[in-house]
Amino acid sequence: MSYKIAVGSSDEINVDLKFGEVSEFLIYEVDDNFRLVERRVLQVGAKDSACSGNGNGCGCGGSKDIVSKVTQIEDCRCVVCKKIGFQAQKALEKKAISVFDVECSIENALEKITLYYSRVDKHERFGNYTKCIHTENDDEDSNHFGAISYPIYQTATYAHPGVGLSTGYDYSRLQNPTREQLEKIVCQLEEGVDALALSSGMAAITLVFELFKPGDHIIAESDLYGGSRRLFDKVSVKNGYEFTYLNFSKDDYVSEIKGNTKAIYIETPTNPMMNVADIAAIAQVAKENDILLIVDNTFLSPHFQKPLKLGADIVVHSGTKFLGGHNDALAGFIVTNNDKVQKTLRELIKTTGAGLAPFDSWLMIRGIKTLGVRMEKAEKNALEIARWLRKQKHVTDVFYPGLEDHPGYEIMKRQTTGFGAMITFYVDTKETALQILEKVKLIKFAESLGGVETLITYPTSQTHADLPEEERLKNGITDTTLRLSIGIEDVDDLKRELKKVLESIN
Ligand SMILES: Cc1ncc(COP(=O)(O)O)c(C=O)c1O
Repeated sequence: MSYKIAVGSSDEINVDLKFGEVSEFLIYEVDDNFRLVERRVLQVGAKDSACSGNGNGCGCGGSKDIVSKVTQIEDCRCVVCKKIGFQAQKALEKKAISVFDVECSIENALEKITLYYSRVDKHERFGNYTKCIHTENDDEDSNHFGAISYPIYQTATYAHPGVGLSTGYDYSRLQNPTREQLEKIVCQLEEGVDALALSSGMAAITLVFELFKPGDHIIAESDLYGGSRRLFDKVSVKNGYEFTYLNFSKDDYVSEIKGNTKAIYIETPTNPMMNVADIAAIAQVAKENDILLIVDNTFLSPHFQKPLKLGADIVVHSGTKFLGGHNDALAGFIVTNNDKVQKTLRELIKTTGAGLAPFDSWLMIRGIKTLGVRMEKAEKNALEIARWLRKQKHVTDVFYPGLEDHPGYEIMKRQTTGFGAMITFYVDTKETALQILEKVKLIKFAESLGGVETLITYPTSQTHADLPEEERLKNGITDTTLRLSIGIEDVDDLKRELKKVLESIN
């Protein structure tokens, strides 16, 4: 039978085995939907070899076939002394790592292990800050007269050198070099196999939902960006999808899984109530039940959180926010590490046509160069403001996952490298909320987030206005709820402004 398989390996990939050497490879078999069917070990040894006593085995000298397939890690023992091999023990500590469309033969496995390691090397070669600025292909791509800033290929179409010949670029809905450069950068930051750049965050989420068909059931976080809820409730439902909404930080989602459940869709932290979901735990449940896990990573960006590494299948972004970072362009991204999903998404973007325009792609490339430094500074500001804000007049509660008593604090420490720059807070009355919005000057009253400028938003009448009031209240969004997107200004200037505004209200 032909399986898609995922392959892990022990530390040393000893392909060219000599007499006396034994090597073990962890093989994760997955079904057509890339879900785990079985984890096995392939043990490979040179003909008539045995535990060699060179550190890889017991040295007992027993004999062994060239390839023996075993079904349990416990079976991965020397045929004579029955001890588990040293490398197998190491392999046990490793996790499933990637998915390959191959026959489960040892030749394919070895080939794909090599491919996997080249991918790992690719993702691990650079750190986060460097990945914002350089791609792996810098050298190959540097034939633009040495231009340091990637050129904008502002063209709709491309001339063909002859009939049946192509430069690789035919029409900009399909391929555009500037967009592709951006996609490479986002792909390496999120550590996926492919990234797609689209005209907005909503275009990205809409495209992902083209993966489903009428009758499919999706379990979604209830406290999502209002536009995502509007898409699901007004458009997706019309397409015959069924939704169950719940709070992934505290509700039992496992019992909501049904035969037709095809995906789990979350934001973490959520917009705007800052609830935190455990991505790895949800990913595990999703895998066991053959369900895709889709994570909107807008609030933290790949600088602080990498959902694919935690087991998610698809990441979406409003690139308009932290990735772009300057409130000057709309964009959206989809990143996946699932080869099958990737192929379908590429087909879909070509057909539906919401790929990001060349100039906006360039703005994104420029914005992302400073993602790391912006995120760090904005987070530092946010932590200070969150701690300070809870002691201020009129403020009755502050929701920021970097506060030690936030219910999601421990999960955040485990699954992220930073707490982000979004703060939601309650004030005592609706009048206070409205007056704050009227009085801020340095801080702008505007609907968006993630830019260098600090913005304040009123979810009830802005981002979440289309959500039925009952749903809003259930999620905790009241007419006294305000949301701050902290920028990179001097924190004392932000505090001074907020203090002045709060003290001016009776
Ligand atoms: C978490 C989140 N996801 C998606 C979106 C939609 O992105 P865009 O406005 O770029 O379409 C937003 C917009 O605010 C958002 O906050």
